[in-house]
Amino acid sequence: MTEPPPPPSHDEGAERIEGIERRWAMVGIGVLLVLVVVAAFAGIHQAAMPQSRVEIVDPLRLHLSGEFIDSNLGSAVEPDGSVTVRAIGQEYSFTPSCILVPRDTPITFRATSADVVHGFLIDGTDINLMLVPGYISSLRARFETLGERYMPCHEFCGTGHEGMWGRIKVVDKAVFAQMAAGAKRVSCVK
Ligand code: CUA
Repeated sequence: MTEPPPPPSHDEGAERIEGIERRWAMVGIGVLLVLVVVAAFAGIHQAAMPQSRVEIVDPLRLHLSGEFIDSNLGSAVEPDGSVTVRAIGQEYSFTPSCILVPRDTPITFRATSADVVHGFLIDGTDINLMLVPGYISSLRARFETLGERYMPCHEFCGTGHEGMWGRIKVVDKAVFAQMAAGAKRVSCVK
């Protein structure tokens, strides 16, 4: 009877390769673990420390009282010469539907939604906000070019979403000052 041949053993080279592969696998696992820890930390940190500046508003009272009462919507000239634009998005329009702003002037947009989440975007600019019911979205901007731009709602908000859009008209400072003289709020709604 002959002895069965011994099971094939790894030679030294194969063992070394296995060692290297194992080390690289550990590097991969290590990177994964770091990412998991970072994601968990970011999530927990954000949940524990919400944005320092969250402004809330009662969506049921928007047109009736407070900052977003009808008479306060549109563009208002502030004592420092800047302009604050207040607007509401609702199914399926913006109020005012045409926003008037002067060129080359600091503009602050303050907007919110009366019902569902809408998108507030000004065509050809980087102005892009979400209007979330219960919260005030705020953004500072400045327009250098005159003219009219479209303001389509870019968040699907229901069956009339495609028809929800407004306009913004950038006019010369002097023209704006003339239109704003004596008026508390201005817009280009006809
Ligand atoms: Cu509002 Cu889409």
